[in-house]
Amino acid sequence: MGNLQEKLEEYYNKDYLPMHMPGHKRNVKLLGEKLPYKIDITEIDGFDDLHHASGIIKNIEDKAKKVYGSKRSFILVNGSTSGILAGIRSVVNFGDKVLVARNSHKSVYNAIEINGLDPIYMLPKIGSDGIDRNIDSKQVEEKLKENKDIKLVILTSPTYEGVISDVSSIVSIAHKYNIPVLVDEAHGAHLTFMENICDKEALNAGADIVIQSLHKTLPSLTETALLHIKGDLVKEENISRELSIFETSSPSYILMASIEECLDIIESKGKELFKEYQDNLKYFYNETKRLKNLKILGNEIENKNYYDLGKIVIKTDKANITGKELICILRKDYKIELEMSSINYALAMTSICDSKENFKRLLNALKDIDNKLEKENKNEIKEQEKKTNSEKKELNIKLQLPKKEISILEAIKNENSEFKNYNELEGSISKEYIWVYPPGIPLITPGEVISKELIKKIEEFKNSNIEIRTTFDKFPKIEVIK
Ligand SMILES: Cc1ncc(COP(=O)(O)O)c(C=O)c1O
Repeated sequence: MGNLQEKLEEYYNKDYLPMHMPGHKRNVKLLGEKLPYKIDITEIDGFDDLHHASGIIKNIEDKAKKVYGSKRSFILVNGSTSGILAGIRSVVNFGDKVLVARNSHKSVYNAIEINGLDPIYMLPKIGSDGIDRNIDSKQVEEKLKENKDIKLVILTSPTYEGVISDVSSIVSIAHKYNIPVLVDEAHGAHLTFMENICDKEALNAGADIVIQSLHKTLPSLTETALLHIKGDLVKEENISRELSIFETSSPSYILMASIEECLDIIESKGKELFKEYQDNLKYFYNETKRLKNLKILGNEIENKNYYDLGKIVIKTDKANITGKELICILRKDYKIELEMSSINYALAMTSICDSKENFKRLLNALKDIDNKLEKENKNEIKEQEKKTNSEKKELNIKLQLPKKEISILEAIKNENSEFKNYNELEGSISKEYIWVYPPGIPLITPGEVISKELIKKIEEFKNSNIEIRTTFDKFPKIEVIK
């Protein structure tokens, strides 16, 4: 049990009368004990202050610094989202140019918007299965040569699907130009402890700002995350100031205690837990090599040294089934709930908290489904199968980067706008983001021009039942600048 957790329990038992926030007043007689009211406090004497940490919270940040080998680590209780907003703003001035991976999370786009940034995009490679691969360091070099005024490089590694970029090479290139690199490592808080890929983890690879969601891949409560810095290109005091803007002024002590407990578990039992976890993954991947219709990305990916096997991407492009159908079968027939699905795959997330039994249960379900698919496929009219596969392949058509007409901020703030059906909008400037879910990478951002190809692409997604989301949620209507 972490120190903060113990201190919170001790404090409750001392029976102080709470004439301060929060309003539940630890009144478990009235509210019951199902939720942790007893230890939900605010910044009272002896409990430090997240935004000026010098005591018990500073100790947790120091633990994180030691565990991850950073220059300084900051606790985040508003998820990686708050760290990404703060990290970007700590480096840029309003209107600066930044080099950004197009497959960034929406928090990166929100940072671009509120700082009026001028994004130069890098496109990830795309596999023949339609899944995003890495950002090539050559692209970083080219763009930095072409744009001498870039102030920050921003990329996501690993991706939602577990693809890791060569951050070390990207950092070497950016540092030649004295430009810091921010890595959204929301999905990689565990990489440091994974034997064969720990050196690919962004902080270990030399990135200047790294943001990790503890809650996504480690045993920690939802919303808990860390922001680490390294090197001399980023100022600690700038990060602190920005975090005081983007993070709540009433941080949850329960979440902070959870961060400490997570770090303590890693420090005390991490080695054995990660050994067991990696053994389980090895077993799972070996067993799934025998599947005939469903395929696991980790068994097939071109560059296994840059891939997190903890993300189990179950590909359905060779089976007569979509990712969406697979996720429904697993839920309905096997009571297994996956993280997400797309047309050609479904994603299972794993962690050190998954027992061998969990892996076996998923494995057995996949074997069972695979066998059924095999029988069905044999009986299936081949023409139908061919048709389905060709429809799936069409979805892998690569879209060109849309033409930018005005900045995201200018577009969002422009009130001279109207809603129209998406297929009437060729040549219009979008006021909205259009995303396909998952993975939520924008097909277009505000300020970009809607092309004929984009309309066709949207139609394609629509026909394949892929969910399309827009900023104002009125699809098929989209708001455009008049
Ligand atoms: C790549 C990526 N970055 C950042 C985030 C935001 O993380 P959080 O939910 O911890 O705010 C997410 C969330 O899904 C994500 O997938």
